[in-house]
Amino acid sequence: MCGIVGYIGEGDIKGFLLEGLKELEYRGYDSAGIAILQNDNLHIAKAVGKLDNLIQKSKNIKTKGFGVGIGHTRWATHGKPTELNAHPHQGVFSYVVHNGIIENFKEIKAQLDAQFVSQTDTEVIVHLFEKYFNQTKEAKKAFEQTIKRLKGAYAILLITKADPNKIFFAKKGSPLIIGKNEKEIFFASSDAPLIGHAKEVHYLEDDEWGVASAHTMELYKNGGGKSKLSFQPLTIDKEYAQKGGYRFFMEKEIYEQSDVIGDTMMGRVEEGDVHFEEIEEGFFDGIDAIKICACGTSYHAGLSGSYLLQRLARIPTSSEIASEFRYKEPILRKDTLFIVISQSGETADTLEALKMAKAAGLKTLAICNVDNSSIVRLADRTILTRAGIEKGVASTKAFTTQVMVLWMLALLLAKQRATLTQEKIDEETKAMLQTPKALKVLPQLHERLKRLSKRYLHGHGFFFIGRDLFYPLALEGALKLKEISYLHAEGYPAGEMKHGPIALADPELFTIALMPRTLLYDKIKSNVEELSARDSTICSIGHEWFELADDFIQIRRWTHPMLEYYDMSVVLQLLAMEIAIRLGNDVDMPRNLAKSVTVE
Ligand code: F6R
Repeated sequence: MCGIVGYIGEGDIKGFLLEGLKELEYRGYDSAGIAILQNDNLHIAKAVGKLDNLIQKSKNIKTKGFGVGIGHTRWATHGKPTELNAHPHQGVFSYVVHNGIIENFKEIKAQLDAQFVSQTDTEVIVHLFEKYFNQTKEAKKAFEQTIKRLKGAYAILLITKADPNKIFFAKKGSPLIIGKNEKEIFFASSDAPLIGHAKEVHYLEDDEWGVASAHTMELYKNGGGKSKLSFQPLTIDKEYAQKGGYRFFMEKEIYEQSDVIGDTMMGRVEEGDVHFEEIEEGFFDGIDAIKICACGTSYHAGLSGSYLLQRLARIPTSSEIASEFRYKEPILRKDTLFIVISQSGETADTLEALKMAKAAGLKTLAICNVDNSSIVRLADRTILTRAGIEKGVASTKAFTTQVMVLWMLALLLAKQRATLTQEKIDEETKAMLQTPKALKVLPQLHERLKRLSKRYLHGHGFFFIGRDLFYPLALEGALKLKEISYLHAEGYPAGEMKHGPIALADPELFTIALMPRTLLYDKIKSNVEELSARDSTICSIGHEWFELADDFIQIRRWTHPMLEYYDMSVVLQLLAMEIAIRLGNDVDMPRNLAKSVTVE
């Protein structure tokens, strides 16, 4: 996740670029940069950290009259957040900003003899463009040839001294919008920077590319002919734009999951194989056990990961709550890989647990969403979840992407430890590649959950129950509900209910039963039957119709438990959100909570 902006016109170029980047800062803020071209004069500024640093650094840039400019706020995917890795990237006479991931950048890089200065995937774009320009002497042709070579996801803006008054643009996978008024042309990753500037907007489709100047705009389809521009009035307000039209950031983030999970996998998973650029061969040598440590939702992801790591890689794995781990005088053995999971990378208990593991000489690995955070800086290696900024206090997309990293890691270790056949690895990777589908919110399902939510606003509590992998998911479902609805909810292993909690069963006890058809279906069914026999109100989630359920939420038919897991995750998140909305709560900022818990 990064944000990009562009400008063509005679107005305040720098002002628009910086203000626009401020609006997009939520998409990433580890570094930022702008480049402005006025005839042959180039002004460029880049800075690490928050946008205020770029504002300071670009203080001396003064522009007057017509010009073109591009800007970028970065969320690192390849290469550390340094000034050299910050966009715009430059060649000899051209400058580019890019949001997305160029999957084949290594292959392209190997074929170019340009001077590379950054570790990013983006830099190949500008060198490739200049190579083609030097051959054809035609900027449009060179840009078209460049786009044809790129694999992966991108929103690209490029300016060049070779054709100075234009912006070349392209979109595939990552968002890009063109805006205009009578005098100016604008580009941005979302509507927010355009509000107050553009009167009309055109939402680019995947595979569209083109070239814009003050007076002309050409649009093409990659591999096809001309495409049609269809501008529509921009009427929305700022807050609505930031939320992408959703009622709450949490809702937007739930809907985003099916896209961001693709970012988590990008360049890491293909059919039959999983790898992480961040982890060199041999890093796991000598590891015979894994300990995972985290808090809250991240702990639930970790617990899910412990089932996957044990099952797929046959490696003893335990998952612990960081605040408990710290004071139990844990026995830490050097053959144990210590994994910490954190969305923010700043959670005090998780950070302290990591320090303990480091002090004991263990190899450490962070699974984190925020590059350059304290946890990332301290861990030996980091795998970024690439979920983009999560604004809702209730974690959603951070959770599903953390689980994905753990699943990929389990498969990588399974490969290295030869615990799975290639056929089984193929099966797992095929399932992984289907997760965007499983996380897609179906409108009819959302509608059903909205209606159903009115039946669950009272009662004396909820039990979310599941078995195996669906037990941590039950914990997560209960946490989601309690933190935003303020209703009492508990996650419980379904098989444990009869060892005590079943005493609570009555019609006012709501049981949310996770009933996957692919994992221990008969077992969970008997557990739910026991509760039903004691008159608990049952809401079952699964594919198979369950006759004893008072309410049944049907998910799609999947053949892999993880796909059922992901489908159900969305159901649980939406259900909690709809109940909380009906209760009139501020879903994005629930009482007593903070997004980042930096105190013990
Ligand atoms: C719940 C939630 C929290 C966090 C926990 C750890 O929705 O977001 O339980 O998961 O505070 O935070 P991170 O992952 O930032 O370490």
